[in-house]
Amino acid sequence: MTATGISRPTIETVLSTARRSDAEREALMADPGFGRVHTDHMVAIRWDAEQGWHDARLTAYEPLQLDPSAMVLHYGQAIFEGLKAYRQPDGGVAVFRPEENARRFNRSAARLAMPELPVELFLEAVDRLVDTDRAWVPSAEGQSLYLRPFMIATEAQVGMRPAHEYLFLLIAFPVTPFFPGEVKPVTVWLSDEYVRAAVGGTGEAKCAGNYAGSLLAQRQAAEKGCDQVVWLDAVERRWVEEMGGMNLFFVCATDDGPRLLTPALTGTLLPGVVRDSLIALAPELGLPVEQGRISVDEWRKGAEDGSITEVFACGTAAVIAPVGRARGRSGDWTMADGGAGKVTMRLRRTLLDLQYGRREDPHGWMHRVGG
Ligand SMILES: Cc1ncc(COP(=O)(O)O)c(C=O)c1O
Repeated sequence: MTATGISRPTIETVLSTARRSDAEREALMADPGFGRVHTDHMVAIRWDAEQGWHDARLTAYEPLQLDPSAMVLHYGQAIFEGLKAYRQPDGGVAVFRPEENARRFNRSAARLAMPELPVELFLEAVDRLVDTDRAWVPSAEGQSLYLRPFMIATEAQVGMRPAHEYLFLLIAFPVTPFFPGEVKPVTVWLSDEYVRAAVGGTGEAKCAGNYAGSLLAQRQAAEKGCDQVVWLDAVERRWVEEMGGMNLFFVCATDDGPRLLTPALTGTLLPGVVRDSLIALAPELGLPVEQGRISVDEWRKGAEDGSITEVFACGTAAVIAPVGRARGRSGDWTMADGGAGKVTMRLRRTLLDLQYGRREDPHGWMHRVGG
């Protein structure tokens, strides 16, 4: 039992008998893309109402057996996380702020009436998988090992209530940057037809349904010639919330130099780990951060009169991506010259240097795995 009284099983290891050879792994890692190439192992932990968390294993990555009546397939109790392990200059491996993902995972679980996973067990799962599959952590510049913890309701019963059985899984993928190539500013579509979340809904939970509901708007953005969708508030369709799967920051010009504004957490935004990290990091670089609100009109006017000089999005997958152009029903506007701004690129470099161990880590954000 843990201090919280939640049972915490130890993770048993059953290594894969079908591990890919060094040559196979190297060939796969030469161009892994994003989420296509999985490592050799996964962690699986079961929960039921009688035993709590039990049957914890590190095993071969393999397909699941799921009853067609499994409740996740009908009522969508499914949550997930996304975090990354980075190769360090001494050859070691470190994961960026995994406790934050563990905590957010539990907030998502609570919102979907699912059981919480002890933070230490989440961390142990991460440590065990990354350590076992450490050869899959890329060394190439910009690459990393993306970790995908998730939980689904497995109880076989078509009935509308919280399930009594769940499966936690952790899988991993070597990845190239989400927006590969050089840092190319994205064009965004301001969605006023579809909304992502409303107050009281599940917007601040990382549940699968939120992403299913966003796909049509993302398709619409592509039809409008845009890379990503920007979500507005559900009530007035006026206040800017976030971009696709990333949080937004606005760089505002003031007499005292640039300052950052990011939409406040109203319950409808996902509280990003990178967002939180930038709120701590930016002031250390002389860039004050305000959490507030900004309307579409303020954004457009600010871009036109030069009081907003840069906009960028941030998240685990792409780290920091500049926003070059915005498009909506009321028109089209460009941020400065449409290129990647100086403040954006400075913050991006600072964060990447920290994650790849090229910069001091005063906050203790990098969680070292193994030796
Ligand atoms: C909707 C949404 N917003 C923001 C983020 C950024 O969060 P993080 O910085 O933790 O990756 C994500 C990604 O998890 C997301 O899915």
